[in-house]
Amino acid sequence: MTDQERSTDSFHSYLTPTARLFSDCTRLRLLIYCWLPPVLMALLPSEAWAQDTPDYYRQNCMNCHTIGGGKLTGPDLKNVSERKDAEWLIRFMQNPKAVVDSGDPYAAKLVEESRGVVMPVAPGMSRYRAEQILKLIEEESKLEESQFRGMQISNKPFAEADRFAGHELFVGRRRLENGGTACIACHSMYDIAALGGGRLGPDLTLVYERLQGRNSLAAWLMAPATETMQPIFKDHPLTGDEIHSLTAYFAASAQHRESDASVSRITFLLLGLAIAAAIIFAFDAIWKGRFSGVRSPLVETVNAKQHRTEEAHAEQQQPPSRSELLGVSDQSPPRGDS
Ligand code: HEC
Ligand code: HEC
Repeated sequence: MTDQERSTDSFHSYLTPTARLFSDCTRLRLLIYCWLPPVLMALLPSEAWAQDTPDYYRQNCMNCHTIGGGKLTGPDLKNVSERKDAEWLIRFMQNPKAVVDSGDPYAAKLVEESRGVVMPVAPGMSRYRAEQILKLIEEESKLEESQFRGMQISNKPFAEADRFAGHELFVGRRRLENGGTACIACHSMYDIAALGGGRLGPDLTLVYERLQGRNSLAAWLMAPATETMQPIFKDHPLTGDEIHSLTAYFAASAQHRESDASVSRITFLLLGLAIAAAIIFAFDAIWKGRFSGVRSPLVETVNAKQHRTEEAHAEQQQPPSRSELLGVSDQSPPRGDS
């Protein structure tokens, strides 16, 4: 094959997929492949989407609302459509802040009863979604016990044993009953050595205050709604007892204040700096090694060549000496035999 043949050949192999795609494009096949699924999805949304409304509700609403289980951060939604008309509720779910800001008196009263918390907009919320959720709430409200009644938050006083159990669960010394991942994989605490806890999630020393106390922290833990935790704990939820122990542990840790947490943060920072310095030194050493590693064989080949020309004149009887092997024969003292 000549060079020219080869280059036209590679040109063809480059062109062919494009050309093939182009000819496919003109065919109905591509139309079907590319356009039919989205069209079908647009035509048949209710079937496909209605099914995941309970899941959506569980992920986005359950940590603030029960259906028949009492007030959490937000009101109990049981029979909410008897309190307020559907159109208002659908509008509110889509953009709570806008409704509150419009000076709506019903919304103002709800906010006041919720200690000033304004409901956030849930991700992916749409009018269709809101309608489906309202339908779901209505159906669940009719039931004796809704699946969204929520776990009863225990109001037993916290005991030392609970705090201890919470710590054991946190660090993974005690297994989570439903197989969830131990908190320490992603979180640190004031009483866990700087490098012991995970860094993916925030330090939880003060989380009891951050999430405004026992009830809302417990409610939060029933259905952790963060992007990282939700996929794990949706299928492996914490049990009521575990939540009780963990909240006991967090309630106690909140008394330890930032100072403790920041000490571990400083230790972590210093350790980080030390590791960075060690890495820099290590690289430095490796690079030095690399340069001499490249240079010395070069020097050796040059020396070896010189050597060979010398040897062409004087025939060697003896095995090469150590200094010859190192390629420094020209600087070494004269050999006895030659
Ligand atoms: C962070 C907590 C929080 C989340 C999450 C949340 N809400 Fe709310 N919700 C509230 C609060 C608080 C109120 C009371 C109004 C206010 O203060 O904004 C409220 C009010 C409502 C109301 C009106 C209740 C009434 O009594 O009229 C409905 C309906 C509602 N929420 C539905 C939902 C749905 C559906 C979701 C999930 C997509 C959701 N909420 C997620 C906190 C929350
Ligand atoms: C796979 C990692 C991972 C595991 C395991 C995990 N978390 Fe988290 N958690 C996170 C991340 C990441 C965040 C921060 C999410 C965000 O800010 O959106 C978080 C946030 C939190 C928050 C809210 C903190 C705040 O300040 O708002 C709490 C409470 C919490 N986690 C408790 C726990 C508990 C209790 C466990 C163990 C039962 C646990 N987490 C296990 C990753 C994890």
